[in-house]
Amino acid sequence: MTYETIKVEQKGAVTLVTFDRPKALNALANAVLEELTDAFRAYDADDSQRCLVLTGSEKAFAAGADIKEMAPQSFGDMYGTNYFAGWENITRTRKPWIAAVAGYALGGGCEVAMMADTLIAADTAVFGQPEIKLGVIPGMGGSQRLTQAIGKAKAMEMILTGRNMKADEALTSGLVCKVVPAEELLTEAMKMAETIAEMPPLAAIAAKEAVNASYEMTLAQGINFERRVFHGLFGTDDQKEGMAAFSEKRKGDFKGR
Ligand code: HXC
Repeated sequence: MTYETIKVEQKGAVTLVTFDRPKALNALANAVLEELTDAFRAYDADDSQRCLVLTGSEKAFAAGADIKEMAPQSFGDMYGTNYFAGWENITRTRKPWIAAVAGYALGGGCEVAMMADTLIAADTAVFGQPEIKLGVIPGMGGSQRLTQAIGKAKAMEMILTGRNMKADEALTSGLVCKVVPAEELLTEAMKMAETIAEMPPLAAIAAKEAVNASYEMTLAQGINFERRVFHGLFGTDDQKEGMAAFSEKRKGDFKGR
């Protein structure tokens, strides 16, 4: 597939995906969804790729769903096409991925960033769910994921007032794992991705599944799930390699088997 709204580059074992609709501040039109879904599927299927970074421009990660595309739609159009449901495809990516956010991550932009396994922000990052100002509410999971990330009081305040949150507040609220100077964002995100890419790939997938299970299961179920997955990893070559490498005081060479 040839992409027109995103750029995809492979840098060693890391796939770098960049939103590329600068004139619309990377607004998430349907074409972006189709291309991003394709790029994420290709990443998941490519054994040479072990981590992915999704980023935007200096000014905007993404300024939201495309308001101009949505404006004329009726209830029937939205319900009939299950508008936005396709974005959940990205959350089915089995391998790890990071959102690297500079500038605006508003509405759908914030929601897509929150679909990532972790978020790293530039000091210029601005997060928000301003949909209420447009007469709607978040529609790509924002009411759920923002609440899970920063708690009800702050999420409710942001969603009801539509106010934005800057990078330092996003860090203290637990929305992002790290804030770095804007000019270092990509380097820092790629460094994190390269570290993850060196880990045993099956353990990375398993770790993701286990952490994500904490949102879906009771504590007892989640701990049981974690333990079964932990036991299961003793069936992999990479567990033997990882533990042998520790004893032999060398770096593990992981094959994803
Ligand atoms: C379509 C958008 C857009 C968007 C910006 N643009 N955001 N187009 N959809 N979400 C376009 C503008 O129309 C403009 O195009 C160009 O990008 C540059 O934007 P400006 O507004 O001129 O830039 P600036 O003054 O710097 O302001 C930046 C901004 C502002 C604060 C981010 O653009 C803004 O408020 N955007 C909308 C943010 C938003 O409400 N997002 C949530 C959307 S709803 P032209 O052609 O005029 O130059 C959503 C989820 C919906 O995401 C879920 C419920 C259904």
